[in-house]
Parts: sequence; structure tokens; C-alpha cells
Amino acid sequence: MSLDNSRAPFPATRMRRMRRQRFSRDLVREHSLTASHLIMPAFVLEGRDRSEDIAALPGIQRLSVDRLVDAAQTWAADGIAAVALFPVVPREKKSAQAEEAFNAEGLAQTAVRALKTAVPGLGVMTDVALDPFTIHGQDGIIDESGYVMNDETTEILVRQALSHAHAGADIVAPSDMMDGRVGAIRRALEAEGFRHTQILAYAAKYASAFYGPFRDAVGSGEALGQADKSTYQMDPANSNEALHEVAMDLKEGADMVMVKPGLPYLDVIHRIKETFQVPTLAYHVSGEYAMLKAAVANGWLDERKVVWESLIALRRAGADGIVTYYAATVARWLRERTQP
Ligand code: PBG
Repeated sequence: MSLDNSRAPFPATRMRRMRRQRFSRDLVREHSLTASHLIMPAFVLEGRDRSEDIAALPGIQRLSVDRLVDAAQTWAADGIAAVALFPVVPREKKSAQAEEAFNAEGLAQTAVRALKTAVPGLGVMTDVALDPFTIHGQDGIIDESGYVMNDETTEILVRQALSHAHAGADIVAPSDMMDGRVGAIRRALEAEGFRHTQILAYAAKYASAFYGPFRDAVGSGEALGQADKSTYQMDPANSNEALHEVAMDLKEGADMVMVKPGLPYLDVIHRIKETFQVPTLAYHVSGEYAMLKAAVANGWLDERKVVWESLIALRRAGADGIVTYYAATVARWLRERTQP
């Protein structure tokens, strides 16, 4: 700022001089986006040789583990950092206590083992939360009034995170928003010798309507019905509270923190990065992807340009990495050099 103030006024300073040619625009570009910044979410199905389209996420499919491994080979070859796994659990395996969440032979655990064997260089991250496994679709277990019980849920989350670590997960990512779960998971990981397993804390996860397509994709939306998650996820009106959440999670041992959703919360990403200067990720969520896809399908937006602009905005705000359903597509565009 002070530099700009000391400059001579127009016409000695013409801001457009540097913008006139591509080489000089590129020379002074402040932020970058490469495949190494991207994490690809994946929905995992039981069975073999199966895939299913997801209505509200055009271009994204639920995949059986064998097909996921095939897709992951391409993602890894294109330089994507990691995959984030979300199991699609059949109704008969859901329960009040979510026992399937820590089944060593469960879908997430099986997918982790298959991926780390076939594509060892690709990071594997698992979701620590109970919503795919509970009959009611909440992220934890509930009392008679329907309230999600914090400490009882945390005990199950710890067992779930340990089962992921045993399967070989590189990163466990609690997305449940229970208090104290990061510390509890860190202590349990250390006690069982998993000192290298990273924790990505969904620290600032908002009670957002932008998760709608995701809930359809994993099949928790129907169970949830009109209930919402505002007794544990954050109020979209708050940002000081996000700093408080991040401070707590870091103290408890989080290696990275996440802000979710992405574009509506650029200010939150920015404040967190400025305040803590720790690895900060953004989740460009299902509803954000769906909005872009819908407009693109109507011919109203240029897909390559709006996707690049959306993702570079997250980087500019302070995100080191981005979880996005566009990860595979953007990595391919970058390989083909068809990025704007
Ligand atoms: C649940 C979870 C959600 C998402 C990731 N993990 C949904 C929710 O909190 O209801 C949403 C991701 C997206 O919308 O892309 N633990």
C-alpha cells in the first residue's frame, strides 16, 4: 500500500501497462492453482464393477472400490494430492449406535486398504462422522429428544478414526463438529502408535443448505428429513466463533483446519489464515458444484473460466488446499493445458 501511495499519479502510473500483454500479466500473477492443491471427494459403493450417477452432481458417480481404484490411478497421474472418501452405506447397516462406522471390513476401511495398495502415492483421507451410519442421518448418536450427545458420540468417533488409521488412512478428517473430538482422536492415535496419521479438523463447518446434493449422494438426506444440524454445526452469521473453533482444534492437535462451505465463506478463510498461519483447507461443497453445473448446462456460464475463478478465489483468500468435486476435471484441464 505505502509503495502505491508513493507512486506518481496518472499518467506516470498506468495500471493497464502491466496488463497489456500476457507475459507481464503472468509475471506478476499473485496466486496459482495446480493439481497438487486439490483433493477429490469420492462416494464409495458396495459390490464390484458398479457405478451410479448422482442427479444433483452431474459428472460425479458413486463407485465400487475396484472402479474407484481405477479412477484414482488417473487422479494420481494427474497430480491430485489426495482423495476424500465417503461411504454409501446400505440401509440395513445403519443403526442407532452407528456400529458400522468402526467395522474393520467396512466400506471406507476397505477402500483405504485398496487405494493405499494400488496407488500408494495418492493421499487418502477419511471422513470421521456418523451420518452415513445412523438411521436418522445426524452426525452423532441422539437422546430421546433427538439431541446429538457430544461425549457419547466422541467415543464412537474415536473408534471410527482408529479403524481408519488401522486400514492405512493418511489423514482422518472429523467433520462432525463435536467438542473435544480432535484431542480424543489424537490421544487414541498416539496410544496405538499412529503418530504419523494426520488430523484435518473441519474446524469451521457451517450449518449450510449447500450440502443438499451431498446428502442425496450418501443417502443421509432422506433419513434427516426436515431436521437440521444447527445444534452442532456453526451459524452462518458468525466468524469470530470460527477463530475460537480453530484455536481449540489446534490446541487439541489438529494438523490442518478446514472451512466449509467455500465461496460463501471467503472472509472466514482469510481471517483464519491471517490469525493462525496454519495449513488451511477449503471445501468447495456439493451445492457450490451443483450451482455451477446447472448454469453451465443452461449455457449461462463458461465452465472452465468460472471454475478457475472460483478456485483461485479460494486460494487468494488463504486456502492452501481445496476439496472440490471439480478436482479430477481441473487436473485433466491442467494436463491438457486447456486451463484459461
Ligand atoms: C457429514 C458431511 C457433510 C459433508 C461432508 N461431510 C454433510 C453434512 O454435514 O450434512 C458435505 C459435503 C458437501 O456438501 O459436498 N459429516
